[in-house]
Amino acid sequence: MDDNPKGRVTRDGIRIHDPADFDGMRRAGRLAAEILDALGPHVFPGQSTGALDDLIRAMIEDAGAISATIGYRGYRHASCISVNHVVCHGIPGAKLLKDGDILNIDVTVIVDGWFGDTSRMYVAGTPSRKAVRLIDVTHDALMEGIAHVRPGQTFGDIGAAIQRLVERERMSVVRDFCGHGLGRVFHAPPNVLHYGRPGTGARLEEGMFFTIEPMVNLGRPETKVLADEWTAVTRDKSLSAQFEHSVGVTATGCEIFTLSPAGSFHPTWPRD
Ligand code: MF3
Ligand code: CO
Ligand code: CO
Repeated sequence: MDDNPKGRVTRDGIRIHDPADFDGMRRAGRLAAEILDALGPHVFPGQSTGALDDLIRAMIEDAGAISATIGYRGYRHASCISVNHVVCHGIPGAKLLKDGDILNIDVTVIVDGWFGDTSRMYVAGTPSRKAVRLIDVTHDALMEGIAHVRPGQTFGDIGAAIQRLVERERMSVVRDFCGHGLGRVFHAPPNVLHYGRPGTGARLEEGMFFTIEPMVNLGRPETKVLADEWTAVTRDKSLSAQFEHSVGVTATGCEIFTLSPAGSFHPTWPRD
């Protein structure tokens, strides 16, 4: 069960990794981020989400890495592509992007056994002002959560910081999906909630690896999963956005494993 006999696990079931493990996460995180960097020019009106997924699959293969999502619980694609009111787990396919669409592309790769999981927002053509505001707020919420990642803080501090920023902007935080521990596994304890109360939840310790991946809706927070058993949408059909980083807790703060080498985590499009 435990493939890392030298490692420690907290009483909340959270694995404590050692310095060599950070290097594995750096390599996995960098590849996932490079793939997202390369996609920018391929997102335009008339493009299909299936073609984007084909590109992602080819880039993972060319890097000699493995897609974590192909074969995961029966999922068959190298990415999730969630357009407009799709909250997460959008299935790539023949559907064509149209002018003004906003989309999250979420990629998880396995490099030498380590998982790198990241997503960001793209736009096809010219987005509406309210869509850009949603995307900006969602990005800022993720970074505000990351600002609380250091030993001694709690997971509740992270969630509360995200929720405060989002609700101040009169938008809502999705409750039905959360971030997660990861490392040599895709989804591990803890559940990283994007809402909550300061001082609650497990305390962060150096060596913990997890994702923060807030989903923010312009309307109400409720979601539903479509008949395909994957696609999660907002119940009120309002627009939704998401950003995701994989991070590690260091002695003094946090290392983001999935930073964009091209500096295009946000925005991914040219903006004036
Ligand atoms: N990458 C997603 C996450 O952030 C998980 C996708 S699982 C899939 O945790 F099967 F839908 F691809
Ligand atoms: Co994730
Ligand atoms: Co992800």
